[in-house]
Amino acid sequence: MAPIGPTAACERLPAMTTILITGASSGLGAEMARQFAARGNDLALCARRTERLDELKAEILAAHPERRVEVRALDVTDDDQVFEVFRAFRADFDTLDRIVVNAGLGKGAPLGTGHFDANRQTAMTNFVAALAQTEAAMEIFRDQRAGHLVMVSSMSAMRGMPKSLTTYAATKVGAAYLAEGLRNELYGKPLGKTVKVTVLYPGYIASEMNDQVKDKASFMASTEKGVASMVSAIEKEVADACVPALPWAPLSVVMKHAPLAVLKRLM
Ligand SMILES: NC(=O)c1ccc[n+]([C@@H]2O[C@H](COP(=O)([O-])OP(=O)(O)OC[C@H]3O[C@@H](n4cnc5c(N)ncnc54)[C@H](OP(=O)(O)O)[C@@H]3O)[C@@H](O)[C@H]2O)c1
Repeated sequence: MAPIGPTAACERLPAMTTILITGASSGLGAEMARQFAARGNDLALCARRTERLDELKAEILAAHPERRVEVRALDVTDDDQVFEVFRAFRADFDTLDRIVVNAGLGKGAPLGTGHFDANRQTAMTNFVAALAQTEAAMEIFRDQRAGHLVMVSSMSAMRGMPKSLTTYAATKVGAAYLAEGLRNELYGKPLGKTVKVTVLYPGYIASEMNDQVKDKASFMASTEKGVASMVSAIEKEVADACVPALPWAPLSVVMKHAPLAVLKRLM
């Protein structure tokens, strides 16, 4: 899957859809909003930092005045609020065609070193809240009998990860398996023809989350390029994709199958 550039993105305008993105106040979520708007989609955007969402909405509408953008405050760890906000967005637009479960947290520490709070917060945000978002999304899609669920997992889901990544990686496997389980359930069923599920496994893409990541130069994609790869995979409604494909698709095979002794030398 070749990443597409901004010019190519503007040339191909698919039929307009309404897309809900959680964690849209920064990083990949905000850039997905920009790129989806440029490709002719209306947007339902949520996160806790609403001032960021208001700025993003103003920026998108200045560039694409014909688009509709609605924003709402949402803390995804507040279960009730997840259902309320998703239902309210659906009421705004009548139909939500695509829901991107993107909100996530990269906090963590080696297990047993006194930082249970940080690991718990990551688990609640990346897994339990992903479950709440998936439940709320699927309620809407089952009622509409159509929709596209996109789960933003991570390349770290390919293998158990050490130290500060241990809990994060485990949450991203869990989130990916929620989506995979749904795809399994829908497979061969009438609803499976109109409800689609995509799991994205991003490698390093520049964002606030990995500001502190050392050795950025080696594999870090720019936000624009990395997200263009995500948007391309989403629009193709692929079952899953490592994004950007290079180097991450071939690396995923190594990460899954290499003996630990080899893996530890690589990462
Ligand atoms: N960037 C990468 O290299 C990379 C690689 C693999 C996977 N990912 C995944 O991509 C997704 C986006 O991350 P990012 O890189 O764009 O990081 P980011 O810039 O830190 O953005 C994270 C987003 O999640 C939102 N969020 C965090 N906790 C939340 C909560 N409790 N309720 C609602 N929203 C919450 C934040 O919004 P507020 O703080 O305003 O609420 C923010 O918009 C995450 O799921 C991450 O795990 C990223």
